[in-house]
Amino acid sequence: MTPAIIAENLCKTYGRGNISVKALDRVSLTLNTGETAALLGPSGAGKSTLLTMLGLIRQPDSGKIVIGNETVFDDGSRTDIRTFRRKNIGFVFQKANLLPFLSALDNVRLAMEINDVSGREARKRAAELLEQFGLGDRLRFMPKELSGGQQQRVAIARALANRPRILLADEPTAALDSAMGRKVMELLRDAARNHNAGVLVVTHDHRAMDVFDRIWVMEDGKIERQK
Ligand SMILES: Nc1ncnc2c1ncn2[C@@H]1O[C@H](COP(=O)(O)OP(=O)(O)O)[C@@H](O)[C@H]1O
Ligand SMILES: [Mg+2]
Repeated sequence: MTPAIIAENLCKTYGRGNISVKALDRVSLTLNTGETAALLGPSGAGKSTLLTMLGLIRQPDSGKIVIGNETVFDDGSRTDIRTFRRKNIGFVFQKANLLPFLSALDNVRLAMEINDVSGREARKRAAELLEQFGLGDRLRFMPKELSGGQQQRVAIARALANRPRILLADEPTAALDSAMGRKVMELLRDAARNHNAGVLVVTHDHRAMDVFDRIWVMEDGKIERQK
């Protein structure tokens, strides 16, 4: 199996002086392409911090991050990550955060056009993704005309639009009822398999644990257990 992401000894301390929080304490993990992992742990454990570091939104203090076959962070030095992030990393958050004035189709399409995918190709892929997610009859609906679960599925389609190597989701089902929450987790797992991406999901939702290939439990900035 090919690793989608390798993290080695990631450390992050917030604050300075005597008020400092060690949010990440030598965190290492490997996630393969096609695999879906859950990241569990109490509030304040460092889950979101880890996700923003793996997603190249914020920098760790030290450690190493390899995505695909590219070393994107190595003890302080990092490559130009903006383009890399746009092309290789997809994000899904608790709220779908769709652009309210664009249809479901155009929300997904816009993500590709930002990466210079031509209009016609972007339209075709956006429609295909939404069809895969059971929204084929909702392409022209505006976000406010969709349920929470449907909006979240559009957000996942949008995150997958550029064929990212990794998809990072921070509590994507927190606002959904448990049946829809499970469905969204299953979609994320299927997305990992079908799109050959590594998918990492921060969740408190213990009802869908069987969906995941790996389960990591964080406490006090460390991955304490793996299941
Ligand atoms: N921007 C920040 N500045 C200072 N402390 C932060 C910041 N972000 C998170 N923290 C602290 O780092 C720790 C981990 O937070 P976080 O990664 O959000 O945990 P989780 O997502 O597991 O709830 C917490 O103690 C939190 O208060
Ligand atoms: Mg969090």
